[in-house]
Amino acid sequence: MQNSQANSGQVSGTVAPPCTMVIFGAAGDLTKRKLLPALYNLAREKLLPDDFAVLGVARAELDHAAFRKQIADEIAGFVPGTFDPKLWEWLEQRLYYTSGQFNDPKTFAKIAGELATIEAKHKTKGNLLFYLATSPDFFAPISTALRDAGLTSEEGNRWRRVIVEKPFGRDLVSAKALNLSLQSVLVESQIYRIDHYLGKETVQNILVFRFANGIFEPIWNRRYVDHVQITVAETLGVELRGGYYDRAGCLRDMVPNHIFQLISLVGMEPPISFDADAVRDEQSKVLRAVRPMSPEDVLSSTVRGQYGAGGVGKRQLANYRAEPNVNPNSCTETYVAMKLGIDSWRWNGVPFYLRVGKALAARTTEITIQFRRPPLVLFRNTDINSLMPNQLVISVQPKEGISLSFGAKIPGATLKVGEVDMDFDYANHFGSTPATGYERLMYDAMLGDQTLFQRADMVEAGWNIVAPMLDVWEALPARGFPNYQAGSWGPREADTLLERDGRAWRA
Ligand code: BG6
Repeated sequence: MQNSQANSGQVSGTVAPPCTMVIFGAAGDLTKRKLLPALYNLAREKLLPDDFAVLGVARAELDHAAFRKQIADEIAGFVPGTFDPKLWEWLEQRLYYTSGQFNDPKTFAKIAGELATIEAKHKTKGNLLFYLATSPDFFAPISTALRDAGLTSEEGNRWRRVIVEKPFGRDLVSAKALNLSLQSVLVESQIYRIDHYLGKETVQNILVFRFANGIFEPIWNRRYVDHVQITVAETLGVELRGGYYDRAGCLRDMVPNHIFQLISLVGMEPPISFDADAVRDEQSKVLRAVRPMSPEDVLSSTVRGQYGAGGVGKRQLANYRAEPNVNPNSCTETYVAMKLGIDSWRWNGVPFYLRVGKALAARTTEITIQFRRPPLVLFRNTDINSLMPNQLVISVQPKEGISLSFGAKIPGATLKVGEVDMDFDYANHFGSTPATGYERLMYDAMLGDQTLFQRADMVEAGWNIVAPMLDVWEALPARGFPNYQAGSWGPREADTLLERDGRAWRA
């Protein structure tokens, strides 16, 4: 019997069921910066059961004590908010480690042995959550080895689930191949493809905002919306990730995953329920409705850029091509902008513009829904024509909130209209909850709720949209890189992309 969906649905406040979480890649950055701090935060919220344990697996030869010490030395620095040593002690007592190569069957026999000991001690009931925080080359081999070691079979009431990190493939063909490999050893309900953007409160709030309020949905369509903009701007350059990034590029790194999650949540139809598959069916439909691009469309509707040296705030960034592990003649893009169309009754004719890049002027992720202007300008002698149309801005980070801009009469004897905002700010209203962004996702995986994880068809739909861009860009390597200065808002052509349509990026 498969139990992975047994608890599907949001069961907030429920303590997670007994389980052992097995982290492959336990010596890596993600484990110490995000995964263990997230478990610590879940423990603080009292959402982890007493019958819980973590087994770290990596190549380095360490024993349990050395692993605990390694994490203990650093965790305080990665836990947002004040650090409570007592809470850490609780987690530390449940932390284990085993070393081994990920492609060696002996490693998995060792893991099975460790898990039996842990289960006897911590009463974890045979429930296992595997987290593959490794290089993507290991996703399929580890899953197969887990199956071969008998660690993925769900019998009786016990469940076995596998969280797979990104990148999920590097194009449509490899993503399909990875899906096939995983699905040959696991069932879809055991596979949790993680996208950390779905762990962000503000991203989850898009669903609540749209579907828990009656007033926005009626205007959320082509009759009222002029266009949608999505900006994901980072101030950091490629830092020490040149080896990975120079082979991936900005498009692969950010668009088919994070940005398409945002588009699907903004563009989806109301689901028939909040069950994982009902929500994901609607997300998947939007992605499948994105108009396919011809090679000519790629040339006219996309822009790529690479940063050159420049100052971002007080920091001076070198040319991308001079970063460590980057090819000095690299044609890899660090910036992408594009205009997409969605062929659906709701969105036909409403462009979705998106831009994303590194080494830009400010760190900001936001979604802007720009509404159409009023049908008739009644205030001819006022400066209404210079007013911006209404904009609804969903700020994802670093500011978290929603604001709606509209025109209001400026007090005085003459009729003058000014632009004002209605603002909701998360931190002001709810206070800030220290979190890494992985808490909800790990907790949901323990509960068996796949709503915030990508299904195979969603991943493939995402790669399918960017496939023509990858093809054209590979066939025609960029000329004229670097074409934007670090600390600017990207290449000039990205502005032209909107100016041609009589529009502009939100400043
Ligand atoms: C990662 C990308 O998935 O997301 C990084 O690989 C990027 O290149 C990061 O910097 C952005 O995440 P966030 O949460 O800081 O917006």
